[in-house]
Parts: sequence; structure tokens; C-alpha cells
Amino acid sequence: MSDLILAIESSCDETAAAVLKDGREVLSNIISSQIPIHERYGGVVPEIASRNHVLNLPDVIGRALTEAGCGFEDLSAVAVTYGPGLVGALLTGVSAAKAIASARNLPLVGVNHIHGHIAANYIAHPELKPPFVCLVASGGHSHIVYVKDYTEFEILGRTRDDAAGEAFDKIARVLGLGYPGGPKLEKLAQEGDSQAIKFPRVSFGDGCYDFSFSGVKTAVINYVHKQEQKGEEICKADLAASFQRAVVEALVEHTMAAAREKKCKIVTLAGGVSANGALRAAFDEAAGQNGLTLYYPPLILCTDNAAMIGCAGYYLYKKGVFADSALNAVPNLKL
Ligand code: KG4
Ligand code: ZN
Repeated sequence: MSDLILAIESSCDETAAAVLKDGREVLSNIISSQIPIHERYGGVVPEIASRNHVLNLPDVIGRALTEAGCGFEDLSAVAVTYGPGLVGALLTGVSAAKAIASARNLPLVGVNHIHGHIAANYIAHPELKPPFVCLVASGGHSHIVYVKDYTEFEILGRTRDDAAGEAFDKIARVLGLGYPGGPKLEKLAQEGDSQAIKFPRVSFGDGCYDFSFSGVKTAVINYVHKQEQKGEEICKADLAASFQRAVVEALVEHTMAAAREKKCKIVTLAGGVSANGALRAAFDEAAGQNGLTLYYPPLILCTDNAAMIGCAGYYLYKKGVFADSALNAVPNLKL
């Protein structure tokens, strides 16, 4: 008999629910984005995000079940993101999942959001199996992860300051592009020359795959100030393209070096930043040169969604890793 899992994701500004069959088949994937609500504030306002999750969750969950053609009685388990993320936002999804699990006497599975991003690749690529190296680059995280098994991970590198997506968002704000910055900056960069301005790269030496993006961020801000002081015009497209290249090169170089160390032939990308076309193109090229197989999810599974949480939750469910009614939101949950 097949297993149907209802998954709920509410860690940031997307209210999402999905139903998955046997872990990798997506029967429904409903995403209600709050971007239009937070846009006017230039970023996510946590309290407003929580309130909107509360308003949206019943409808989003109902739609996920209807689209999947099933009811609560058909489910095998309920999976939910319990961290990392905004505490109030996480709590709304966790409370909804606990209520459903309790009312329907279903197993409850707590899922780490980063684990979910990695699992998006299993949905998109049925042939993909661990072990592999995964770059998770999102608004809150930049991790190079060695995925030993479906539920076992080793962190090979992480950011020491800003996450890659956070850097995109901050520079987009400096350029007056608004929120969410990543896609807007990418669009502008397409019209610019990525070789126009040299920005610093940070490396912590051989065998260390950590990132630092605060240096390049400060360099961009200083560049803008200097040009303004000199009364010289800034070519925003060149600036965006040069900044994007600096970030992309660091992500590619460190991930490739980590894959080499692990003698790993498969590399995957995950998280919102992996929707970036320049990043995908640079990884495609590097994977070709290094004889590696590269996987990345379609755009809809790169940014936050519940299907990825259902897939990660399925493997925990199969392993018998269940949460109980004491499950709480853990804003700084580690992988
Ligand atoms: O994974 P995600 O939806 O949420 C988190 O878990 O953080 O990632 C959102 C991040 C934002 O910082 C956003 O600007 C960035 O991913 N992002 C992009 C692109 N699309 C989303 N960054 C660069 N280029 C993109 N096309
Ligand atoms: Zn995310």
C-alpha cells in the first residue's frame, strides 16, 4: 500500500501544503506567497508573516488535500517544518500539524527546513540517491552538505556571516530594486558586464569550504558611496553582474573543492539562490569540466514549498523518526 504524507511549511513568508505519494510523487503542492504583503516594507515582517500564516493555513491545507483527491482519512502521516526559521511563523505550521495528527491519530514528523531543500532534488530526479554533495543556498543559509544517506548529513562548509540570498537581498536594496532582491538583481545583471568591477573573494585556506559574503557586500556599498562622492554615475547593471559573479564564483569553487575532497561524483543545488540562472550555468560548466553529474530542482522547488518537506518527511517516517505532541518550533535548528 502506498503512503500519503501531508506536509506543511510556514518557516518564512510562504504558507505551503503538499501531499506526496511514497515520498517522491507530488500529488499537490500549494504555495500561498506573502510577497505582495511584505513588499512595501522592503523585507519580511515576522509578526505579519505569522498572522497571515494563521489566516492562510486552513485554506492552503484544504486545497492541498482536494487537489490530491484525498481526505485526512487517507493519510499515513503529517510532516511539518519545525526549524530553522521565524519562530512565530514556524509555530503556526507546527500547531496546525499537531492538531491534525492528534485529531486523526496520525504519526507526526518534524522536518528540518534545510533537509527539505536538499530533498527537493529527489522529487525532481527519481534516479538520484545519496551519497552526494549539496550546496544549499537560500535567504538564511549557505551550507555545503555531504548527504551520506536520506537522513544523515555532514556539514562541509557554511557561511561565517551573511547567507548568499541575504547578500543578494541587501545589495538589491542598495540598488533600489526592492524585495525580494535575488530575482530582481539577477534580471538587472543580465544587462550588465560581470567583468566590469572586481570585488574581493574570501577564502579561509585549503581544506576549509566556509563562505563569507559580508566583505563583498561592504565592497559594493563602498563602491556606490565613492562613485556618489565623486559625482560619477553608477552603471547598476554592471554592478549587479559583478556582484553576482563574485558570489557565484565563491559558491562554485568551494562546492567543487568539497566534492573533490569527498571523491563525490554527484553534486546537487538547493534553496532559493539555486533558482539563479548564472549560478546554474556556472555549475553546469564546472560539473562538465570536473566530470561530475549535476542536479538541481525546477524553479518552483528551489524556493520554499511543502513538497520538499513531504519528501524529507517521508524518509524520516520510513525510518520511524516521529515527533510527539511536545514538538516545538526551533528557530535556529541545526542540520
Ligand atoms: O529558499 P528560500 O525561498 O527561503 C529561505 O529558506 O531562505 O530562499 C529565498 C532566498 C532570497 O534571499 C532570495 O532573494 C533568493 O533566495 N533568491 C534568489 C533568486 N531567487 C530567489 N537569489 C538569486 N537569484 C535568484 N534568481
Ligand atoms: Zn528555504
